[in-house]
Parts: sequence; C-alpha cells; structure tokens
Amino acid sequence: MAIVIRWWLCCIVLVAAVIGGAVADDVTYDGRSLIINGEHQLLFSGSIHYPRSTPEMWPSLIAKAKEGGIDVIQTYVFWNQHEPKPGQYNFEGRLDLVRFIKEIQAQGIYAALRIGPFVEAEWTYGGLPFWLHDVKGIVYRSDNEPFKFYMQNFTTKIVNLMKSENLYASQGGPIILSQIENEYKNVEAAFHAKGPPYVLWAAEMAVGLKTGVPWVMCKQDDAPDPVINSCNGMSCGQTFAGPNSPNKPSIWTENWTSFYQVFGGKPYIRSAQDIAFHVALFIAAKKGSYVNYYMYHGGTNFGRTGSAYVTTSYYDQAPLDEYGLIRQPKWGHLKELHAAIKLCSTPLIFGTYTNFSLGESQEAYVFQGKSSGECAAFLVNNNLSSSVTVTFQNKSYNLPRESISILPDCQNEVFNTAKVSSQYSTRSTVLIETFNSAEQWKAFQDVIPNYEETSIKADKLLEHMNTTKDKTDYLWYTFSFQRDSSGDKRLSVNSLGHVVHAFVNNLYVGSAHGSHDNVSSNLNTSISLNNGMNNVSLLSVMVGLPDSGAYLERRVAGLRRVRIHQSNNEAIFQDFTNYSWGYTVGLLGEQLQIYNDEGSDKVQWSNIGNSTQPLMWYKTTFDTPNGNDPLVLNLGSMGKGEAWVNGQSIGRYWASFHIPNGDSSQTLYHVPRSFLIPSENLLVVLEEFGGDPLQITLETVSNDKLCGYASESHLCPVTPWAELMSNKGKNTRHHGRRPRVQLECPSGKAFSKISFASFGNPSADGCESENHVLGSCHSSNTKVVVERACLGKADCSITRSIRSFGKDPCPGISKALLVDAECSSRNLDDPMSNLI
Ligand code: GAL
Repeated sequence: MAIVIRWWLCCIVLVAAVIGGAVADDVTYDGRSLIINGEHQLLFSGSIHYPRSTPEMWPSLIAKAKEGGIDVIQTYVFWNQHEPKPGQYNFEGRLDLVRFIKEIQAQGIYAALRIGPFVEAEWTYGGLPFWLHDVKGIVYRSDNEPFKFYMQNFTTKIVNLMKSENLYASQGGPIILSQIENEYKNVEAAFHAKGPPYVLWAAEMAVGLKTGVPWVMCKQDDAPDPVINSCNGMSCGQTFAGPNSPNKPSIWTENWTSFYQVFGGKPYIRSAQDIAFHVALFIAAKKGSYVNYYMYHGGTNFGRTGSAYVTTSYYDQAPLDEYGLIRQPKWGHLKELHAAIKLCSTPLIFGTYTNFSLGESQEAYVFQGKSSGECAAFLVNNNLSSSVTVTFQNKSYNLPRESISILPDCQNEVFNTAKVSSQYSTRSTVLIETFNSAEQWKAFQDVIPNYEETSIKADKLLEHMNTTKDKTDYLWYTFSFQRDSSGDKRLSVNSLGHVVHAFVNNLYVGSAHGSHDNVSSNLNTSISLNNGMNNVSLLSVMVGLPDSGAYLERRVAGLRRVRIHQSNNEAIFQDFTNYSWGYTVGLLGEQLQIYNDEGSDKVQWSNIGNSTQPLMWYKTTFDTPNGNDPLVLNLGSMGKGEAWVNGQSIGRYWASFHIPNGDSSQTLYHVPRSFLIPSENLLVVLEEFGGDPLQITLETVSNDKLCGYASESHLCPVTPWAELMSNKGKNTRHHGRRPRVQLECPSGKAFSKISFASFGNPSADGCESENHVLGSCHSSNTKVVVERACLGKADCSITRSIRSFGKDPCPGISKALLVDAECSSRNLDDPMSNLI
C-alpha cells in the first residue's frame, strides 16, 4: 500500500552518523525514524554490556562494531552492581559507565542507554539490588510506592550522571535513546490493577527527567506517548504489530543474534543468513529504521553476575565472540547487509512504499523516491525450501530459499541475505601451559560446619536468598541428632535450587542439582550413622538469582524438605524438615578472601593429595604468555565452582554439567589480559565436589583459520556505506566486478599458510562445510596463485576468473574458488617469517 510522504522532508539530506562537533539539539522522531540534529536516521545498533568485558577491551569492541556498520552501541545499566547498598554507589572499573559512553563518543558513534532499571539480561536478579527485598511492603515492578521510590531514585541518579557529563545528544553527547522498564507487558497482567498505572507512572517519570532524547518501552504495545513501543525477538519483520502511533518510528530493540546458554544446555546457533533475512524484512515490511543486535558482543559473566544457571560465557555466538574476536561470517555478512541497506536510505526514509506479490510466496517491497532513480527494492522469497527466479521490472532475479535481495536502485542486486560473500573463520586454541605436576599446586579444604559451630539458628528450613542476602552462593544447613545404634539409612533432601552437597559426620555423601528449566532437585543417598552423635551438613548452592517473571521478591530457593529413611524401604526414620537447624552463610575461604594475595596467607595450604576431596581450594601461579591473543583457562577436568586470577573472579564454572551428547556446556573460561601481571599470576580455584586440577590448562584463543568462497552466483562485496559517502560522486555503488575471494587476517596478523585452494568445482557447500576436497575440475596452479597473492600479507583478494589462473581447467563447467588460509602473528622485523 502506498503511503504519501511529507515531501518537504525530501529536502533534508540524510547524512552519516557523524556527531563530533554537532550542534546540540533535542533528538526527536516521526513516523519514519529518529531525527538527530534535524536529520532522519536509519540506524544499526549493537548491544555491548560494559561490565561483561573490561575497560581495556572497550575501545577495540566499539571499533570493531563501528567497522561492522554499527551506528549505535546499546547497553543496559546494571543497578545491583552500581548500588550495592542503598545510597552507596560504585562506578569503578568495569562499572565505569561514563568512561564507556565517552569511549563510544570518542569513536564518533551513538549510544542507547537502557536504564531499566529492571533489565532481565540474564543478569542476577534481573539487575535489581537484593536489598530491595528487605524494604517493607515492596512489590517490585508494580504500582507500589516503595518500589517506585527506589526505581525513580536510581533512574534519576543515572540520568543526572549522564547530564553532568553532557552525554545526552541534546547536550552534544552521544546518547540518542533511553529505555525505561523492560518487556513489562510480559508480566503486566500478573499485577492486575497495579500493572497499568505503573506503566503510566514509569513513562511519566522517565519523560519528566527531561533528557532531550526519546524513551522506549520495549514490547509495551501501549507505551504511553511520547514513549516509543519497540519490538524484541528474532523475527520482528513478521511479529511486530507496529508502533502504536503513526508518528512513532518502527524500532527493533533486541534482535537476538543467538541466545543465552545455560549450564547443561548447548550453544544456540543462529546463522548470519537468518539474521540478515529478518533484518531486511523488518526494514522492508515494517518500515524499520532502527535495528539493534542483542548481543553484538555478549562477553563474560564475571564473578557472580550471571542469573540462575546461565553460563559464564554470554552470547559467545554474537558477531563479536566472548573474547571480542570477530566471528565470521556473521560479522562480515551483517556488515555487508548494513552497507546494502544504507545504500537505500533516501527512498527508505522519504519514499512512497508499495508491496506486491511476485509469486506464490514471493513479494516485492518497493520504496520510490521523488527524483528519478530514487528507488529501492527488497525482493523476498518466503519459500523455506526452494529457490526461485522472479521477474521484477522486466529483469529476472534468482532468489535462494528464504532470502531477500536488496536492489538499492531497483535494478542491481547488491546483496542477498542467503548469499554469503564474507569470509568464514574457525576458532582454535593453542596450549600455553599445563599445571600437571602436583608440586605446582597447593590445596586447602574448606570447613564443613557442624550444628554447634553455626551462628544462625532456626526451627525450620530458611529460605536461601533471604538468608545469604546474595552475599555468596553458599548456605550451610546443618543439624545434629543422637542415636543409640549405628547402621545404614537413606538421606533424602528436596531442594528448590540450585545445587545441594551433603555431608554426614564430615564425610561427603552426594550431591543433586536442578536445571534452568526445572530448578527443583532431590538428593537420595545412602548414609551410615554413628552410634552417638550424628552431624548432617548440607551445602545449598545457588548459581545466580532468577532474572525474570512477576513477583521476583516472592521467589524461594534452598532446601524444602529433609528426611532420613530406612535404608531399604520408603519408611521415614525421621523427618528433619521442622527441626533445630543451624546455618552458616558462605564458605570460610570466601570470608577470608583466600583467592587474593593477602587473604591467601590466612589459611594453611598443604600439598595436593592423591584423591579428590570436595570443597577444595587449589592455588598455583603462572606467567603471562606473550602476544595479544585472548587467554582462557580450560577447566574441562573440573566439576563445579568459581575461579579467580589475581583476586578477580573470572566467574562460576560448571564443567561437569553435560549436555546430552556428553560434552560440557562450557570448558573455556576467559581470563582478560588486563587481570594479569607479567609473572606469578595467582590462580585460585574453588572446587565444590570433584575434578582434577592437574589437567587444567592455560590456552590462547584465535579465529585465525579463514575460509573464502566465490561461486558464479556469488555477489561481489558491497561497498560499505561510510566508504561510499567518502567517495561520493565516484561510481563505487557496485563494483561491477566478478565475484572474488576476499580474505583478511585479524588485526596484527598476516597469512602464513594456504591449506587448501581450488579453482574448479571443490566442495559444493563452500565454506559451510568443514573438510574441503577437490572436485572433478581443479586448476592445478590455484595454490601457487593464492599463495602469491596472500602469504605474508594482512589481506588479499583473488578474483574468481579464468584470467587469475591462466587457463580454464574445465570449459563448460561452472567454477568456484575455495580457499582455506591461516594467519599468524606478524613478525615485523622479518616479514618473510610468516611463510611456512
Ligand atoms: C529479553 C530480555 C533481555 C534478555 C533477552 C534474552 O526478553 O529483554 O534482557 O533477557 O530476552 O537474552
């Protein structure tokens, strides 16, 4: 359906997101897009959460995002880290929000601040500080005075902090958008009459803070004016009902580039092609003008920041992986998509719009500008299984299954969401150091408290979170009782999360745990009782607090029922659920902070024994390896616990929680280089119930193995929009050249090896398949040609043409070029050193 646009808008030239030196103006919007300094904007945005990486990583993460065609960095704000106690704030180190936003500004792109302050985000307690739990009469996220008081207080604190540093675009800063609340619609109905007034209040409160930039409420289809409602999910081109007013732009706040992973779960793989399809569809079908990738860089849940059962690695499958390395082809394919869409900016923003069918499940979205030639078309093939040839404006186009072709001039296809011309990369690790001699380690077994030694007593099972106040994952539940005979029995423990380890008379008798989808667990294990006093000590462990759902303040965790049964039948010997219990919050090692240099001296460490014991602390040291490749500890030999390097927690690990095929959900744990000193780095590992520290290894990670593929149907890479702008007037819109393999090593590296190269008909899946083989047609000099073009260089480009390889190896057969190459650190003194 055609829409008549306001023609005067056409006079406004759509220019790049260059903000340095811009005259400050409020950011506004209309039905097409955000308007910054009077200019309409088509924006690509990427989520990077500042506490999930280190300040030292931020510049390179932001630079790689910018290079990938990202105009805006979007982040949540993490209330529970910033305000650990009411009125006490922390904005240091990884929490230095101002530094993060200023880094974005320094690199000339925009920022979007999702204050929440409830954020979900697989962040413990969804970002809420646990101390809120003790506020009398509080009901989170509802029309409840105590909650609203603290929420307003924190939101105001953040807004004022940003204002004081002139960080809003209305002040000349980079922040162009803010978010209040988060997907509230998901829980609103549960609050009955207390839901809708809270939405109105939150919107009014936020708008009243006068930031000079618009607010969004994601997934809140009735977001009150002037707050913009936006979409979250993987397919907003299909699911979004649209803005709730014709004067609001169509915004996608969370396009999930993969999904978070849980312990016991496997990584979620979402292809670059699928993401690109849905972005293009959103732009075309929903007239989207803002798409944010959640996450563009996921990073690491350091310390205890992850929510219930979530792995320490966060959205590793994002375009920038956990360590900040470029993940290909996702990063490159999306970069090309952004460039292709930006080529359509003028008709997209100012054009009239029509949508018509091109076939049974094919359609065209056409945006026609005022002047001739201002026309952009998106040709969509919705058929999930077959490719199809369609005719559009008298030309035919082949559309692979489930794909969209982008024609920035309604004639030339510059990009198709299913045709990947970007290079592929494969992650590999290099072993740097083993810790396999017992002399390298010292060990300390944490104390297993008996009832007598506990400081908190109660005649019932206490709720876990309300007892630990989230100061630790660990809570000891203990009781003792007298018997006048010895013998075997069975201990049964029912827990609502997340893990329980049981000790009877100081001996470990077993563990049980739940999972992300079913937190409850039952431990049922045989035990031997003494004639005389018996001590039972149960360690309840939480793996992060819940982060979603209504009434978070009412959630319970920890032990619910404890019984001892006869050894050979169900008969209850004694029910201890309502008994005299003694509690200890946390482990001794945590309390003494034996994971850092100073605390480490507070206990007596001993040599490592032969048998593995539960609740062991292990320590060793290692030197920092040379180079810049990210470092990881491979904890695949361990059970469950937490690890620290030089006193800084690199997060929880749980290598023994396997996915159905027997693999650990996560074995590699990131050690940021900024945590390290040149030598004698202190590594401390707390192991709850098993594991072999002698098999821990230190490794580097790289994405140095690359693959490039160009077939007849491949398109040549799109000139990035920024490059195009700087080359205005020159005909760079489309190279008009043949498809080619373009390869680029990670920064600071050069090609050291061509492991496979064939111009002919090698593996038909190109880089999608792992092991490449020659086909019936192969040009025997391919390798030589490719080596000459690439070895020793940081990037290279080889055209898929007969000319490149001298002669046609098989006339009449359609030929592709497939190359596997490896990069390694460049030795600047000796450029030939890269050649193997
Ligand atoms: C969304 C939520 C985000 C995050 C995401 C999944 O619903 O708004 O905070 O939790 O799901 O990663």
